[in-house]
Amino acid sequence: MYTKILAAILLAMVAAAALPVFGKEAAPAIDTGREEAEALLSWKATLSNQSQSFLLSWSNMSSSPCSWHGIQCGMARMITKVSLPGLRLGGLAPLDYFSALRTLTSLDLSRNELTGIIPPSIDRLLGELRVLLLHGNQIRGSIPPALGNLVHLQKLVLSDNMLSGPIPGSFRNLTKLTTLNLHQNQLSGLIPPELGHLASLEELELENNTLTGPIPKTLGNLTRLTSLYLHYNQLSGPIPQEVAKLMNLGELILGSNNLSGTLPSGLCAGGWLQNFTAHDNNLVGPLPTGLLNCKSLFRVRLERNQLEADISEMGVYPDLVYVDVSSNKLFGQLSHHWGDCHKLTMLRVSDNNITGVLPPSIGKLSQLRILDVSSNKLEGRIPLEIGNMTMLFNLSMSENLLEGSIPQEIGSLNNLEYLDLSSNNLSGPIQGSVQHCLKLRFLKLSYNQFNGSIPIELGMLVNLQQLLDLSGNSFTGAIPSLLGGLNMLEALNLSHNSLNGIIPSSFQRMISLLSMDVSYNKLEGKVPQSRLFDEAPIGWFMHNKQLCGATKGLPPCDLTGSGRQEKKSRASLLAIIPATLAFVLIATLVKLQCKKEKFKAEGANEPRQTKLFAVSNFDGGEVYKLIVDATENFSHAHCIGTGANGSVYRAHLQTGEIFAIKRIHMMEDDEQFNREIDALVHIRHRNIVKLLGYCSATHDRFLVYEYMDRGSLAASLKAKNSAVELDWRRRLNIVMDVSRALSYMHHDCFAPMVHRDITSNNILLDLEFRARVSDFGIVKVLAGDSSNCTMLAGTKGYLAPELAYTTRVTEKCDVYSFGVLVLECFMGHHPGDLLSSLLSSGARKSTSLKDLLDTRLPLPESETATEILKFTMVAVQCLAPNPSRRPSMKHAVSVLLSTAPGPCNPDYLDTDIFIPV
Ligand SMILES: *[C@@H]1O[C@H](CO)[C@@H](O)[C@H](O)[C@H]1NC(C)=O
Ligand SMILES: *[C@@H]1O[C@H](CO)[C@@H](O)[C@H](O)[C@H]1NC(C)=O
Ligand SMILES: *[C@@H]1O[C@H](CO)[C@@H](O)[C@H](O)[C@H]1NC(C)=O
Ligand SMILES: *[C@@H]1O[C@H](CO)[C@@H](O)[C@H](O)[C@H]1NC(C)=O
Ligand SMILES: *[C@@H]1O[C@H](CO)[C@@H](O)[C@H](O)[C@H]1NC(C)=O
Ligand SMILES: *[C@@H]1O[C@H](CO)[C@@H](O)[C@H](O)[C@H]1NC(C)=O
Ligand SMILES: *[C@@H]1O[C@H](CO)[C@@H](O)[C@H](O)[C@H]1NC(C)=O
Repeated sequence: MYTKILAAILLAMVAAAALPVFGKEAAPAIDTGREEAEALLSWKATLSNQSQSFLLSWSNMSSSPCSWHGIQCGMARMITKVSLPGLRLGGLAPLDYFSALRTLTSLDLSRNELTGIIPPSIDRLLGELRVLLLHGNQIRGSIPPALGNLVHLQKLVLSDNMLSGPIPGSFRNLTKLTTLNLHQNQLSGLIPPELGHLASLEELELENNTLTGPIPKTLGNLTRLTSLYLHYNQLSGPIPQEVAKLMNLGELILGSNNLSGTLPSGLCAGGWLQNFTAHDNNLVGPLPTGLLNCKSLFRVRLERNQLEADISEMGVYPDLVYVDVSSNKLFGQLSHHWGDCHKLTMLRVSDNNITGVLPPSIGKLSQLRILDVSSNKLEGRIPLEIGNMTMLFNLSMSENLLEGSIPQEIGSLNNLEYLDLSSNNLSGPIQGSVQHCLKLRFLKLSYNQFNGSIPIELGMLVNLQQLLDLSGNSFTGAIPSLLGGLNMLEALNLSHNSLNGIIPSSFQRMISLLSMDVSYNKLEGKVPQSRLFDEAPIGWFMHNKQLCGATKGLPPCDLTGSGRQEKKSRASLLAIIPATLAFVLIATLVKLQCKKEKFKAEGANEPRQTKLFAVSNFDGGEVYKLIVDATENFSHAHCIGTGANGSVYRAHLQTGEIFAIKRIHMMEDDEQFNREIDALVHIRHRNIVKLLGYCSATHDRFLVYEYMDRGSLAASLKAKNSAVELDWRRRLNIVMDVSRALSYMHHDCFAPMVHRDITSNNILLDLEFRARVSDFGIVKVLAGDSSNCTMLAGTKGYLAPELAYTTRVTEKCDVYSFGVLVLECFMGHHPGDLLSSLLSSGARKSTSLKDLLDTRLPLPESETATEILKFTMVAVQCLAPNPSRRPSMKHAVSVLLSTAPGPCNPDYLDTDIFIPV
């Protein structure tokens, strides 16, 4: 007993003297503990100052290194694990220093900025390691053969360093290794056949080095292998049968090497193969049956080889997401089975020898984003079903033998950004198809047999940026000057057509344009003046009727009489509004079963009493009294409007302030009232009427708004005097204001909101004739669970046709009403008659813009007329019966704001607006 205590005291004293911090806890391992701590600290001292600051807990003063950052100890309080990934530690890799850590089994220093080499004696320094992770550093030199003596290693990851030289054959003894990852270094030489001895290996990643020679057959012994990555090397020879047959293989990645021979017949033998890539090699011959029938495939890349196989046999791959077999020598037809690869997002088969038609079943690929069948020998028409692939973003069918016209269904592809149909035998006018793809950035229709005029609507595709190429067709008529509004466009090619008239002066405002080709047409007159055109090569303008201008090589204009009036040419505006337009059907408000919605607005469910909620600086009861007085208890004399759910009064308070008071009809339930408050409390926009307060009293409920001096747009349009005051410029501004308000509600609010009752009655005008949207009684917040609209609401004549058969409210309902409103604004009255007369006969009727305009105003001069036409075209698009073809308000605003094309070719007043049924 005595001796034991004495021994303990002595030990404690020794410990305290040597390294007081370890004294109490580390008794059995004092020396090693100290040694370990010193090793760590001396490594720390070699690091940069900044790096040292990441290791503050590593200090002499603290207790045991076991509590230091990134350090773990085992049973005997000796360090077993050092884990310091991703700290951006800069300095030498500590492999030498850590030899003191005798029980270290796991070392993770990945993703730092460590330099140095792996010491040749690593087996004597760190012989117990199971896990060594050094990836993502700047370690140089070769891999020492001694690493092969760390026979306990299970995981060895040295990728993403600067290691060079060969992979040592000594690795054969690492039979417990499950992961060997050496990718992204500068390793060279052969893949050692000895790797075939690593019987536990599951992942082998050697990609992105400069390895040469063949893929060793011995890798076929690695029966547990699930992933084999050898891409981006310089491997040659065939893909060994033995490897392809591995039963657990899920990924075989071999792209970008110099592999040759045929694909091994045993591919996918285990039935697990998901990812197989061997692109950019010299593989030849057929596609093996194993691969053709491989149901597990997820991602396949075989592009740029010499494969010569019948693609007709490619079948159903229920999980296939991505396939690229382009630039081979594949032949045969595209099987209708492709339509059953439901998950497919990309299908590239371009640059082969594929014949036959595009199977209509392809329309079932609802997830497809990229379809590239270009440079083959496909024939027949483009299937209508193409319009079902609404996720499509890139559609390439160029250089085939396709014929017929572009199906209108292509207009449903409202995510399409890249469309290339060039070099086929397509024909007919292009009206009514591509112009609906509002997101297009690249449009190439060159070298077909398209005819008719260039649709002015192409000028609305304001996202066009990379290219608009209509060359090599038979387009006739004038170049629409609205194309000048494409101010993101960089390249425009209209050459090799039969276009006549002038080059629109609006083109001088295409600020992004880098190249334009209008050669080989019948153009005449002055080339618009701009730096780009002045310095342009003459080739852009060659072979026309009589162009003149400042461009070098063209005759100057004075000699040819450039000032003369250009011939007026008619351009046509097409919009599709089928006879099913059904707003007349909805004559009454139909109430459907509906859930009560919850309201956030304060006071909604409280007992009724006189209460004024001060949204701004109101003083409750006092104001209530003032308002009742000012309106003489809501007498008719002060009423300025009556709507479905309430009357509006003008309240001129004794204080001099004027407010608009909307008194809610008492039979209405709370819903309307609360909804309006809720909506307006949350939104603030200069084109949305301001709610100043509300009152909920026993007999009265009313809302207090800022007073808009000129009342509603409807009223202003009705009376002759005020209608004349509303000149074209003001009407354009009003449309702009309303579009901004709606865009804000739909896209920029805390939650998207649908107004649901955009009419000229609900647009109010201030003294300056600027517009504000009002009446939020049936507004709908499109949030999570409240996605169903439970009541058909709105105003006859402004309701979107889909509301006849669906209760699903989207912001596209507002877009439709907006379209009606725009026409009303320019016509001076509701366009109902016009729309129904154009539609009723079933025949194609047209009206010119001139005939449509409000006769109480003088005809607009050309610049304004151009604007009106642009706005009208947006309006007509908003009236598309298919909601998905209507532009979003955001898009509409961007078109309305786009650079006004210059005056004045063709004369827009004569533009026909006809609406085919
Ligand atoms: C590998 O292990 C064997 C024994 O299995 C041994 O004879 C040989 O020396 C070891 N090779 C290396 C490079 O360590
Ligand atoms: C290959 O490695 C280099 C350098 O480490 C890197 O820049 C490159 O992106 C890598 N390439 C691939 C395909 O991973
Ligand atoms: C490994 O594969 C080679 C060639 O495929 C074979 O000859 C050898 O017997 C295999 N070795 C082991 C240990 O299975
Ligand atoms: C195939 O690739 C995908 C995507 O990169 C990946 O999620 C999947 O796990 C891979 N399959 C296998 C078997 O590793
Ligand atoms: C394409 O297929 C046709 C027969 O269908 C053949 O005559 C032609 O040589 C093939 N072309 C290429 C480039 O493989
Ligand atoms: C695909 O499109 C066709 C024609 O446009 C249409 O009749 C069919 O209903 C659509 N199919 C699906 C599944 O959407
Ligand atoms: C919306 O309507 C659909 C079908 O009419 C119904 O299945 C769904 O439950 C409704 N959702 C809500 C939130 O009422």
